[in-house]
Amino acid sequence: MRRHTRLIGAAAGTAMLLAACSGTLEPGQNEGDVLHLALNQTETHPSYIALDHWGDYLEENTDGRWTLEIYPNETLGAQAEALQLVSDGSVELAIVSGPQLENLNKDFIALNLPTTFDNIDHQMKVLADDEVVGELFNSLRETNNIVVLGGFTQGNRSVYTTFGPVETPDDLNGMKLRVQESELNLAMAEALGASATPMAYGELYSGLQSGVVDAAENNEVSYATQRHYEVAPHWSQTNHLVGLDYLIINSTMLDSMTDEDRETFMEGWDEARALHVDLWLEATDDSIAQAEEGGATIHIVDETIFDEALEPLVDQFLTTDTQLEVYEGARALSEKDVE
Ligand code: GCU
Repeated sequence: MRRHTRLIGAAAGTAMLLAACSGTLEPGQNEGDVLHLALNQTETHPSYIALDHWGDYLEENTDGRWTLEIYPNETLGAQAEALQLVSDGSVELAIVSGPQLENLNKDFIALNLPTTFDNIDHQMKVLADDEVVGELFNSLRETNNIVVLGGFTQGNRSVYTTFGPVETPDDLNGMKLRVQESELNLAMAEALGASATPMAYGELYSGLQSGVVDAAENNEVSYATQRHYEVAPHWSQTNHLVGLDYLIINSTMLDSMTDEDRETFMEGWDEARALHVDLWLEATDDSIAQAEEGGATIHIVDETIFDEALEPLVDQFLTTDTQLEVYEGARALSEKDVE
């Protein structure tokens, strides 16, 4: 058996030695390993809790041969770094947001658009449909040694600011809006009238606090777990996009598992996904309450104004055949009568 040790650079630039693993990476031969997972959320976030459950499942169902070590709070770096670490095999797994994958393959844009998903149920239906997402999820295997195993919802994303409510895009005029790092996200900020400022998630609290940015957009759970309400107390319920996080794995590691272990691994992941949806709904309500208790004001606004402002991005960004195919496949699973 070949022993492998992984040396990686952590966020702060400090070299850090991840546990040496004992498995072999020959295809189908690996009977156990320590899987390290990079996450940018806190330990109280539904993604951490669901992943932790997955780790327990794996350990119990393989008699401890496979274990999962989750590194929350960007300990292994922001998502752009985590993506690189999974690609080169220094870290086996990561949760990354849709826009990050768009930077590797533009076809992922089809699932990042504001009009792709109606709601969480629709999004889960799309993720479970291999005909729609199967090829896309394997499209990074040759180029980046990455396979997408599935996704967690990010729920609805809304706008929040340091300065007051956003009732129409006019209220964002001239304001610096933090966005995730991708072309589509830059265009989204501009379509909303703001000046786009791409920034990693972990830098956002201080970005809002110091005035580097005036606004951001995210779901209620991130708003609360990151305590952004302390520095940006105006939440406007724009619900402009149902976001998607992906679970990615280094393809050499995935292929190294025995067929039986891979099956157990995927069964555990399926449980984690189902648990995540339940946790998500609960966490969203709790997060609103937490933010309000912490001094935030929730502004109910006319969502359709934001939908209309973002609508032109669909034609602008859907340009390749694959993008159109995936987008149309996703839309075909919508239960809305009128498109
Ligand atoms: C959500 C999402 C993260 C993402 C973050 C962001 O919290 O779950 O994956 O990084 O938004 O806006 O950067």
